[in-house]
Amino acid sequence: MPATKTTLKPKRARRLLSVFDGEALSPPPVWLMRQAGRYLPEYRATRAKAGGFLDLCYNPAMAAEVTLQPIRRFGFDAAILFSDILVVPDALGQKVSFVEGEGPRLVPLADGIAIAKLSLAGADKIFATVAETVQRLRQDLPAETALIGFCGAPWTVATYMIGGQGSSDQAAARGMAYRDPAAFQALMDVLVAASVTYLDGQVRAGADLLQIFDSWAGSLPEDQFDRWVIAPTKALVAEMKRRHPDVPIIGFPRGAGVHGVRFARETGVDAVGCDTAMPLSQIRSSLSGKTVVQGNLDPLLLVAGGERMRTQVRRIVETLGVNPFIFNLGHGIVPHTPPEHVAALVEMVRDKSLLG
Ligand code: CP3
Repeated sequence: MPATKTTLKPKRARRLLSVFDGEALSPPPVWLMRQAGRYLPEYRATRAKAGGFLDLCYNPAMAAEVTLQPIRRFGFDAAILFSDILVVPDALGQKVSFVEGEGPRLVPLADGIAIAKLSLAGADKIFATVAETVQRLRQDLPAETALIGFCGAPWTVATYMIGGQGSSDQAAARGMAYRDPAAFQALMDVLVAASVTYLDGQVRAGADLLQIFDSWAGSLPEDQFDRWVIAPTKALVAEMKRRHPDVPIIGFPRGAGVHGVRFARETGVDAVGCDTAMPLSQIRSSLSGKTVVQGNLDPLLLVAGGERMRTQVRRIVETLGVNPFIFNLGHGIVPHTPPEHVAALVEMVRDKSLLG
């Protein structure tokens, strides 16, 4: 007997949520990380009108509009709120700017003194603006489309706050965590509290489920992974579950490799998002049938399209689709992705003859 039942007609109005009741849906629900973004001409047009990237995030009408654009085009099973993980440092008083073509810039936090100055005092207005976007979305989205709220995991957000920008090795944050673990712990505590406030506002405004992005989870050795990835995520999940026990949470520990299984088991998340490199049969066989798995097509296969993409999509659905599963990429859509390939992917995932 299979571990879970496969159904065509889910019980919930929003189809995607049924996987969290332990149902393996056929075809599986599908959404894509960074489904709103520069690969869409209509996004580029709205973005040009908004001015800066954060101006777009802080304009509820425009942020709702760009969230809806990929839903109108492709009919994904979920919309993800248009915002950014770096809204949290901005709300904590560490001003964030986005340099065209280069990415985010912050004045780096140098030490415990700078960390002690962070404060949620000015956060209400920013969080209320994001909650307003969620409210508009819940009104404008089709009833069957789930709405995903999100934040960055404390570790990943800290790498930007301490480094002042993105980096390939997160050296600044790793260095501070070794040099001054007490200060680093204080930063984790502030980020857990701020993320709870941020996510709580999103859920109250109408988000159906949440994703925690830990994009740089892969850069830490085991003991540091436990301390700065698992522990703060566990605290964040526990507090969100206390406040909203029925709101599912997806964790996305990108690059976690063999730690991914422990992450899924120990943090309390309902689903684990798998990056492109995660071996699917291994993650599936290491987790209970109830844990939802999400992933993990290579975003560059979506750029390539065609038969190679089709083969890999089939492999993913064959391996994971017999248990509760959400189809996604292993990381975000890249800007040079042809929108027609996204349409072809959605059609393929929903094609009953895919598995022959
Ligand atoms: O469609 C969606 O997925 C929802 C919106 C969303 C964005 N960023 C919009 C965005 C989400 C969920 C994020 C998460 C995010 N932001 C992460 C975690 C996921 C990941 O990609 O690893 C991280 C690390 C960030 C921080 C961030 N935001 C960086 C490093 C950058 C610059 C890199 C880039 O792609 O330009 C951003 C900017 C950003 N966030 C863009 C978008 C659509 C591009 C900005 C633009 O329009 O110029």
